[in-house]
Amino acid sequence: MKILAIESSCDETSAAIVEDGRKILSCKTLSQIDIHKRYGGVVPEIASRAHIEAVAPLTSSALEEAGLTLDGVDAIAVTYRPGLVGALLVGVNFAKSLAYSAHKPLIAVNHIRGHVAANYLAHPDLKPPFLALVISGGHTSLLKVNSYTDYETVGITRDDAAGEAFDKVARVMGISYPGGAEMDALASKGDPKAIAFPRATVKDAPYDFSYSGLKTAVVNYLHNAEQKGVEISKENVAASFSSAVCDTIENRLSHAIDDFKMPAVVLAGGVSANSHIRECVTRLCNEKKVKLYLPPLSLCGDNGAMIASQAYYEALDENFANITLNAIPVNDKFVN
Ligand code: KG4
Ligand code: ZN
Repeated sequence: MKILAIESSCDETSAAIVEDGRKILSCKTLSQIDIHKRYGGVVPEIASRAHIEAVAPLTSSALEEAGLTLDGVDAIAVTYRPGLVGALLVGVNFAKSLAYSAHKPLIAVNHIRGHVAANYLAHPDLKPPFLALVISGGHTSLLKVNSYTDYETVGITRDDAAGEAFDKVARVMGISYPGGAEMDALASKGDPKAIAFPRATVKDAPYDFSYSGLKTAVVNYLHNAEQKGVEISKENVAASFSSAVCDTIENRLSHAIDDFKMPAVVLAGGVSANSHIRECVTRLCNEKKVKLYLPPLSLCGDNGAMIASQAYYEALDENFANITLNAIPVNDKFVN
């Protein structure tokens, strides 16, 4: 089954064609980072307008690279939640129009399920059940993936997402949006024990995350140093901040591995490209003797291929959408 999928939930427009959920035939992505950079973050209305311009040409080019016309595609899939509502609406409306005019089934895909499915594209042996940690610019979720289409949230961030904290700290250090990758490189040159930043826990919620206190602590540290005219080491700040993030992830994951006894752990989302997080999660899974699946760097960020992959499993479950499909900005407990 060949599925054409459209992704437009945030600041990447992407169209991809995937066969049977596992084989990428084409994936065309256009990032809007250069447009949003000057504002220090994503401007929703500008994002929607950029999606409108990009979605049709990217779809044509994905079809061309796969050597297909719309006739050769079995279904059309689209990210319908969670994300920026205006951005989602562009993809949803485009996909609905394609499906309607070409008489193809329509499949609505949750973006978070898509991030997890990026791993199916890279690891032919991976199949549920497993424990998944999705860390991205907008989300931090610890999930029990009981089957391809049965998800349960066991932990979630109470405030900022991990990526949001990375980007905010980077911004205060003068690094342009999105700063996660540059923070990663800086942290490799610094001392992770140089500054004791807080590791927050959430009362009575051992799997939940909270990053706003850590973010504020780092921002206060930087402002205090600036006011006192004290020179700081950006490398040490990045390393100490990353180390605090790694510790919180290790702590939640460690409890979840012990408590849920799932046979494997899967990492996903833009922040799963972080070398320090990959290293600490790899160490933890080795210690716990649980198999770990990491997405390739090329599939960590937003892309249409991961949406097409998840769409295949939704289709096997006959989970089809219709012409009344709407965009939903928020997620739910079952990652539906
Ligand atoms: O998954 P994604 O493309 O978008 C969302 O669904 O939110 O994630 C984007 C996030 C940004 O916050 C970016 O700074 C972060 O992923 N990111 C990283 C790294 N590469 C990207 N954060 C930390 N270390 C990295 N190497
Ligand atoms: Zn994403």
